Amino acid sequence: MTDHYAVFGNPIQHSKSPRIHAEFARQTRQDLTYAALLAPTDGFAECVAAFRAGGGTGANVTVPFKEQAFALSNRRTDRAEAAGAVNTLTFTPAEILGDNTDGAGLVRDLAANLGLDLAGMRILLMGAGGAARGVVLPLLAQAPVRLFIANRTADKALALAGHFGCTGGGYADLPGGGFDLVINATAASLAGDLPPLPDDVFAADALAYDMMYGRDTPFLDFARRRGARTADGLGMLVEQAAEAFQLWRGVRPDTEPVIAALRDG
Ligand code: ATR
Repeated sequence: MTDHYAVFGNPIQHSKSPRIHAEFARQTRQDLTYAALLAPTDGFAECVAAFRAGGGTGANVTVPFKEQAFALSNRRTDRAEAAGAVNTLTFTPAEILGDNTDGAGLVRDLAANLGLDLAGMRILLMGAGGAARGVVLPLLAQAPVRLFIANRTADKALALAGHFGCTGGGYADLPGGGFDLVINATAASLAGDLPPLPDDVFAADALAYDMMYGRDTPFLDFARRRGARTADGLGMLVEQAAEAFQLWRGVRPDTEPVIAALRDG
């Protein structure tokens, strides 16, 4: 019997998730469909209920519905609780299980695809919104020597850091000495902006990681000019999808050819 999945978002027409999951399904010989469904901003819960009633097995959730998906879940994984947001729903007759695979996807991209050993690293996480919050716990689980959360509104970074027991503040409060990994989880790239980073923010051999993908960003350009390695968020996108696929199907797809195919366009 064919199982049915979907990704809900608004907007959703440019989502790469149907292509990624179709490729995973082909690779692992899983019998499933995966659609991109547009939910009205005030009608997310109704759309999910209709999909579930129509035989849906599970769903991914993207902007702007991850907090609503959290509220909709009857049960949540620890990492979803920590993130305060849900990007993966699994439907059973009895319940809706909410998970968040974003942080695991980021860590897997950094460790498996980009070859970083996060243990002992000095990490700077920029941003204190939903995207940043979702990755703090999985990053801390890798035992970095320092995780500093910096945000334009310093109080939000302080609150988030306090919640997870790391350090944080405004961009003027950055500790010196440089960072081995700088992750951009702000919405600045969307607006073509660059968070106010000091010139010496990168340690030797540092990696600059922008969660955004599909275009060059002022942050990656800034990093390149200062000799840092750079990576965009395409690998994270595919890895969070692989994590969801494994949860649903019990089999882990090979992400490397899928990332390569998406890079080719
Ligand atoms: P998301 O769910 O993508 O994280 P969000 O919750 O709206 O979206 O958070 C956006 C983040 O990007 C915030 O940390 C925001 O900083 P503020 O808390 O000060 O608003 C950050 N951000 C947005 N535009 C930015 C810019 N031009 N420079 C630096 N940070 C920016």
